[in-house]
Amino acid sequence: MPNKRVVVLTGAGISAESGLATFRDSGGLWEGYDVNEVASIEGWNNDPEKVLGFYNLRRTQAALAKPNIAHLALAGLEEYFEVEIITQNIDDLHERAGSTRVTHLHGKLSEARSEWDENLVVDIGTAPIKLGDKASDGSQLRPAIVWFGEMVPMIEIAAKIVSEADFFIVIGTSLAVYPAAGLVHYCKSTAGKYIIDPSTPALMSYEGWTFMQSTACEGVPKVIKQIVQENK
Ligand code: APR
Repeated sequence: MPNKRVVVLTGAGISAESGLATFRDSGGLWEGYDVNEVASIEGWNNDPEKVLGFYNLRRTQAALAKPNIAHLALAGLEEYFEVEIITQNIDDLHERAGSTRVTHLHGKLSEARSEWDENLVVDIGTAPIKLGDKASDGSQLRPAIVWFGEMVPMIEIAAKIVSEADFFIVIGTSLAVYPAAGLVHYCKSTAGKYIIDPSTPALMSYEGWTFMQSTACEGVPKVIKQIVQENK
């Protein structure tokens, strides 16, 4: 198999069948939490304890979740292609499924950072962060998550990865949040482009995309089978 590159952009939808709530589906994660209260720098400054509690809950939920068929199918694709996963998700289900090249645009639950220095990062695994837990620079530890209004440090690297894709598969994202959603514009016109989602995404108006209206667990194995068969 020529070393063709498959790039995958995933959102909360790929983890839905692992039991982790999405953000914008009815009954999604945000219910009970105002996004500005728990996923913004204003929310952090206003009530850091509420924010720490929110991410401690998500970290516990993610630790109990298991990779699903879609995560595992993407990991298996590395047998045939160079595979790069770009995810908006902060869980580690791609890594636990066996994917070896994963770029987290919005950070990871398993990491904490200094309140003052975004580059001072520590691995905390599944442990909670409590008010009073300090980074080595003496500041309060906070989740190493990119909050609304904060820069997305990995976006340029992600855009370059997408621009080199021979196949680009978008899975389980409403494409509602930028700059992540803008990555679809970096894909070569000659690349094979697929979007897998049970709802009709905004992307449908775009030329040259194959839309698989299904869940990730149903659609990802089908798309992977099609790509592998077409490129035997
Ligand atoms: N399989 C595949 N897709 C699914 C499934 C499923 N089983 N269930 C829901 N979806 C789809 C929904 O139709 C929707 O298009 O997943 C998408 C989830 O969209 P969002 O909830 O907006 O999640 P996401 O796109 O990842 O949000 C992007 O917004 O809140 C911020 O930083 C947060 O990374 C997040 C970003």
